[in-house]
Amino acid sequence: MSENQQRESFGSKFGVIAAAAGSAVGLGNIWKFPYETGSNGGAAFLLIYIAFIFILGIPTMLVEFSIGRRGQADAATSFDNIVGKKTSWSIVGMMGILSSLLIMSFYSTVAGWTLEYMFKAFSIAKEGVDTAQYFGDFIADPGRSLLWQVVFMALTAFVILQGVAKGIEKFSKILMPALFVIIVIICVRSVMLDGASEGLKFLFYPDFSKLTFDSALSALGQAFFSLSLGMGALITYGSYIQKKENLLETAVQVSVADTVVAVLAGVMIFPAVFAFGVEPGAGPSLVYITLPKIFAQMAMGGLWAMAFFLLLTIAALTSMISLLEVVVLFFVDRFKMKRLSATLLSVVVVMVLGVPVTLSMGLLGDFTIFGKNLFDLFDFIASNILMPLGGLLMVLFVGWGPGTEFFSKEITNEGTLQMKSIIMIEGLLKYVVPFLIAIILVAGLI
Ligand code: TRP
Repeated sequence: MSENQQRESFGSKFGVIAAAAGSAVGLGNIWKFPYETGSNGGAAFLLIYIAFIFILGIPTMLVEFSIGRRGQADAATSFDNIVGKKTSWSIVGMMGILSSLLIMSFYSTVAGWTLEYMFKAFSIAKEGVDTAQYFGDFIADPGRSLLWQVVFMALTAFVILQGVAKGIEKFSKILMPALFVIIVIICVRSVMLDGASEGLKFLFYPDFSKLTFDSALSALGQAFFSLSLGMGALITYGSYIQKKENLLETAVQVSVADTVVAVLAGVMIFPAVFAFGVEPGAGPSLVYITLPKIFAQMAMGGLWAMAFFLLLTIAALTSMISLLEVVVLFFVDRFKMKRLSATLLSVVVVMVLGVPVTLSMGLLGDFTIFGKNLFDLFDFIASNILMPLGGLLMVLFVGWGPGTEFFSKEITNEGTLQMKSIIMIEGLLKYVVPFLIAIILVAGLI
């Protein structure tokens, strides 16, 4: 970018929050968090989850925002700009770019399924449909699942091509409130079902006896993943946050929004699951097999199914937008590419990785590496290795490395904001957060 050309930025405070919350609120909030909470002691789990959001999540989010806003560039180049020369710290950002590509390759597969389910809601959520059979046949059908994957990537690219304020921000400002309204409406319907209270009990009854070391570990990993930390998505968005915004306030608001949506997802799912007496579960089988069966038994089930899959589409789309922007901005800032060519190139790379992932559900199902199919392998490399490792290094950069100086200047807006909590945050970043992320990393490897 030339000297006199203004770097793009988010135009409003709400825009920043909508975009960053859009990144954080994803499939993880809807298909993973509720089940983890329910099966790990309900409110007891929720309490430690919230504690981890404050101790680990908000400080790490601040690290990412501040690196991006200080560095004024993509997730890798920002490190160089802060240090003042090319150093190996930028490899931390490049790991994030690699994990964005890996995550997109399977996120787009699953997001594509959501589109199929939204458009076919009325014929899937119907009595007499064997939803397990339907799902199995569908994901094994290469034509249809590839088509939806391509459509989803095209939607994401469409938003990215409009740029930061007119693309990412504008769409997030419409999509996130829409997501919130839809989830609240479905929640209201769900808690009105006969027998809903059992579900609320599963989710909220504080059973401290179920709270083990393993459940604390799940809460820790989930807090980290749910806030989209460790891969530069928030460095990328941070580089678009205006200098006058208060980063701490923003990080708190984004984290609260993400947690509220995760809890609402539980209020939406469990009353229905218990009212219809099915097994609560998590992941794709919950979303694509169990829930359609429940919708089929409800009045106007097709409509509820459609609303639910629209909700899921929005959650996935705003997360995909942030993932794609990580890679696109890298090509734009690092290699001086135009947004259009950077986007096309990124989409091609995602498809080269992503088509085999989609096919691994059917045609290539027997193809495994280290005993994992491509979907699980990419997920493992990104979520269990690159993200925690990247997060750990970012935090060390600020806590102990060359980023120590700039951090307090950046979050106090050069000393103009009074911030008593800064000493505490810096203490956490030095002595507590690296230790917690290291635990996530070790636990994810074994
Ligand atoms: N937070 C997302 C979710 O809850 C998943 C995710 C992890 C993500 N890292 C990301 C999304 C980076 C966008 C960018 O589903």
